[in-house]
Amino acid sequence: MGSASQEDVYAYPDSKAPSLVLTHPTEDEKRRTWTLNHKEWGGALTLEEYLKREPYLTTIPLTRDGGMTHWILTDSSWSAEKGGSRPILASCESINKRVLVAAPSDTAIRDGVGHGVGSVFTYPEHRGNRYAGRMLNELGVALRKWQCEKQVSQDAVCSALWSDIGKKYYAQKGWAAFPSLHVEFPVSANQMQGSEEKGKGKGKVTPITYENLGQLCEVDEKLLREQMLRKAKETNRTCVAFAPDHDTMRWHLYRDDFIASILFKSSPGPTNVSSSIKGALAGTQEGRRVWAVWSRNYYGGSGKPTDNVEKNTLYILRLVIESEASEGENPSEDVVESFTAVMRIALREAATWNLGKVDLWNPSPLVKALIERSALQHRPVERDAESIPSMMWYGAEDIHNIEWVANEKYCWC
Ligand SMILES: CC(C)(COP(=O)(O)OP(=O)(O)OC[C@H]1O[C@@H](n2cnc3c(N)ncnc32)[C@H](O)[C@@H]1OP(=O)(O)O)[C@@H](O)C(=O)NCCC(=O)NCCS
Repeated sequence: MGSASQEDVYAYPDSKAPSLVLTHPTEDEKRRTWTLNHKEWGGALTLEEYLKREPYLTTIPLTRDGGMTHWILTDSSWSAEKGGSRPILASCESINKRVLVAAPSDTAIRDGVGHGVGSVFTYPEHRGNRYAGRMLNELGVALRKWQCEKQVSQDAVCSALWSDIGKKYYAQKGWAAFPSLHVEFPVSANQMQGSEEKGKGKGKVTPITYENLGQLCEVDEKLLREQMLRKAKETNRTCVAFAPDHDTMRWHLYRDDFIASILFKSSPGPTNVSSSIKGALAGTQEGRRVWAVWSRNYYGGSGKPTDNVEKNTLYILRLVIESEASEGENPSEDVVESFTAVMRIALREAATWNLGKVDLWNPSPLVKALIERSALQHRPVERDAESIPSMMWYGAEDIHNIEWVANEKYCWC
């Protein structure tokens, strides 16, 4: 027995060292990482609550049964005799998602795998040593084949992440930045008053709940598939979209319910804490309906939903205009009314849940026209630092020629 000699003491390696490997963390290592990154991503949750949420997020639709993978960069030359614990030089997660692809000459959509990457993190004491960079280089390569055994081509279609550190860093690693505009609708007294007085579309708006969500997702995907085939031909570019499917929507909604059930536990608020309204649908004639599915986001402060209300946001995860193909950029009056009615319900829900604004990501030209015609108060926001959709493409095309269709909040992870 005795203390380790000088040459036995573990020295942190260079980021280019061949001994660095991308692998998966143990349960203890995951917990250590979550404990450290709670400050970044805990939002309104305490550390204890966050340490419950992260494992929970591996048990819900989309991520359960291995749908989510945790990754770390570590050093294979480390051994327990050198003391301490295995070094975690950088970490992240990936989620296996269904993607749809249409090339200009295609007559049918190709289904494939696209990985969403999240929680890229380096322990504070290791930052600036290029460990995250090394992990991302390894990850970009690894994800091409990851969980693709059932694919005919054996390759994933793409991987995507939402950068919170601007457009440059990930672009240099191969994840090109895509449009990051959103339209913000403030929850002002004025907008709320309008919802009562104007009441356009009143009586024909129905709530979206867990009961009818699945069917609507099926309709949405069918329409999206048709839209992509058309768009690929029109633009002469390969189109890709994350499938706006039931599992993807439920991943967001279960996550939202988990957080709200904690925040509203001891705070006065609506009686049904896990809001049964997950969106709204306007219009009765199939083919002309408009709907939106949404989730809530709380920034916290002292752990109350009433903290930071002006920052708290109701995100439109997905907006569907059933008649998109025939509307052009000059929508008909019934669609304008339906859109306005849906957005007014979103604003009312936002007010109910202490959310100061409603955000809608990357509206299409048609949706921009609907917003203008709705006369709802709004402002466009070009994000240049946070949640920048960024994609690595594994196909033969240049990523800059890829059209990301339905680049909306539901894709985010
Ligand atoms: C971002 C992060 C993962 C980088 O880890 P790292 O191991 O230090 O990264 P590297 O050494 O490979 O690269 C450092 C680069 O990241 C850049 N960077 C780090 N934080 C940044 C920020 N908030 N905004 C812009 N750039 C940032 C550095 O300026 C440096 O840039 P350079 O390559 O031009 O010199 C780490 O700082 C971290 O965990 N931050 C907190 C969590 C976070 O923001 N994660 C990213 C979520 S998208």
